[in-house]
Amino acid sequence: MLNLQKLHFGGDYNPEQWDKSVWKQDIELMQKAGVNLVSLGIFSWAKLEPSEGKYDFAWLDEVVELLHQGGISIDMATATASPPAWMTLAYPEVLPVNFDGVRLSHGGRQQYCAASPVYRKKAAALVEKIAKRYAKHPAVVMWHVNNEYGCHAPYCYCENSRSAFVDWLKKKYDSIEDLNHAWGTDFWSQRYYKWKEIVVPKRTPDGTHPNPGQQLDFKRFSSDVTLELYKMERDIIKKYDKVNPITTNFMSMKFTYAMDYFAWSKEVDFVSTDHYLAQHDPLNHIDLAQQADLTRAFANGKQWLLMEHSSSAVNWQPRNYAKTPGQEKRNSLSFVARGSQGVMYFQWRQGQAGSERFHSAMVPHAGEDTRVFREISELGAMLKAHPGISAHETNRAKVAMVYDYEQFWVMMQANMPTEDMSYPDTVAKWYRAMWELGIQVDFVPAYADLATLKQYDMVLMPMVHMLTDKEEKTFTEYATSGGNLVVGYYSNISNRTGRVKLGGYGGNLVKNVIGVYVEEFYPLRPETALQLSNGLSATLWSELSRLNGAEMVASFQGSDVDGSVAIAKRNLGSSTAWYQGTELTLESQKSFFAEIASELGIQAEGGNGVEVLHRGPYRFQIDHNTNSVEVSKS
Ligand code: GLA
Repeated sequence: MLNLQKLHFGGDYNPEQWDKSVWKQDIELMQKAGVNLVSLGIFSWAKLEPSEGKYDFAWLDEVVELLHQGGISIDMATATASPPAWMTLAYPEVLPVNFDGVRLSHGGRQQYCAASPVYRKKAAALVEKIAKRYAKHPAVVMWHVNNEYGCHAPYCYCENSRSAFVDWLKKKYDSIEDLNHAWGTDFWSQRYYKWKEIVVPKRTPDGTHPNPGQQLDFKRFSSDVTLELYKMERDIIKKYDKVNPITTNFMSMKFTYAMDYFAWSKEVDFVSTDHYLAQHDPLNHIDLAQQADLTRAFANGKQWLLMEHSSSAVNWQPRNYAKTPGQEKRNSLSFVARGSQGVMYFQWRQGQAGSERFHSAMVPHAGEDTRVFREISELGAMLKAHPGISAHETNRAKVAMVYDYEQFWVMMQANMPTEDMSYPDTVAKWYRAMWELGIQVDFVPAYADLATLKQYDMVLMPMVHMLTDKEEKTFTEYATSGGNLVVGYYSNISNRTGRVKLGGYGGNLVKNVIGVYVEEFYPLRPETALQLSNGLSATLWSELSRLNGAEMVASFQGSDVDGSVAIAKRNLGSSTAWYQGTELTLESQKSFFAEIASELGIQAEGGNGVEVLHRGPYRFQIDHNTNSVEVSKS
């Protein structure tokens, strides 16, 4: 993508919230800070279409010209993220309905049902106007469709959604009998005879939950029906602009998991993402690294851009801590080191009104004579001084970790062996263990093909609960043709409908390829920490199992399953496969991975709070202990 071939610096610009007199000053300050791109008009629908079918673009034309004169490029938004009040008043069916059947109110944002025909029609009309008007404007270099799809109302349970869900099911299943089989509807008399009998998985009587297969399909549908909205807008823009790239901003998995970004990424010209720190966590830069690495995986070789993050505090967490001096630079460069084509913020100027008025911005309430503005400007200058970075991708890691939204979705369901298991927590722990060791990790989807997996010396599979037979075969082929594999507990338990694979948990992969026969789950009480036979500590999970060809690395002891396999490995000729049948504590996970890495000769670089990453000839050394960053070129 030609337009991304530089480092972008800027943020969301919401001039409609300010008097015109501020606009000129904005441009001057943007120039001073080194801003070269702003996202414009994201929440402007009510200003652009004050009443149904009556548009007012005069103010936006003026802003576009001012930016253009000031040499600042525009990421033009489609303004569909928050429908105006006239719409929800005239067409209340636009408003989403929640799990309890309650229709949500106007007054926040994203108050629309993705399946609403009225919303779609009105959004399409607005996008048509915007695209036609600005497509040829020289300042417009990219398109920003909607905003953070699925952030606030990812699942809608209204009648429009139900009927769209049934249509989606009709396309997925050849017959209603196929659906009955996939969902296992002979359980609890759930069998469907007619499509019209199928409902969305709303709240059911106390102590019961909707069918697991139905829940999974509803989540898939919700991601797909929202993606349809994106595609609708994208295709309208493409009619008018065949040159500039189109994106929509994703979110990090800490805050949303409802959209399958691996699928979405195939539909955007470039991936863009937003990231906000979990502010209570002093080590939140590790989550930042994980999300940036995940975004690189979504982009899958295409370019990507950090579309939003904060210059300092947010205002929507329980306690909103400001960034410490220097923190923002190391946060931003950690994204750039991982492949972002720049650094963008929410937002340019801190709001005076509205619920985000205490959220930091590039220009704070206190103005330009501030630490935040100075640090922002320094970063802008630094990015400008290294234009060559954008020509290089982040170097490939030696280790890949499997990540998959459907695992997230199935693991959120009730009625699992223990409620203490958490897919995101286990993934984050495995990632963090590697991060602390200084071993870079790339992410791959669970449907990755063999050629993709073979690019890596080692593949990690934390809690990959569902695998199709084909996917299981791919991991088997990887492990038996030279790839080193680590399979975590509760993996390969079901196929993608949630139907359990019989004959030993973990299927053929665990039972025969690695060689551990798992009979029964023995989740541990929350307060229990078991010392394994090799001295490592395990929590949450044990299982009754025995060796079936593998070699014991650590067995459970002092437990109900003494002698069962906690960790085993098998030499598969030119590679090794491990099975980890428990949740290790962070320190133990680190020791386990350190041992594997040294056995396989996988080198660490950095570690202990210092990360070292390479983008071609550029070397980034980010020291999170001292807030210092060095960028050098070989
Ligand atoms: C999201 C949204 C922005 C803003 C920020 C605040 O990323 O896209 O509009 O609300 O959060 O953190």
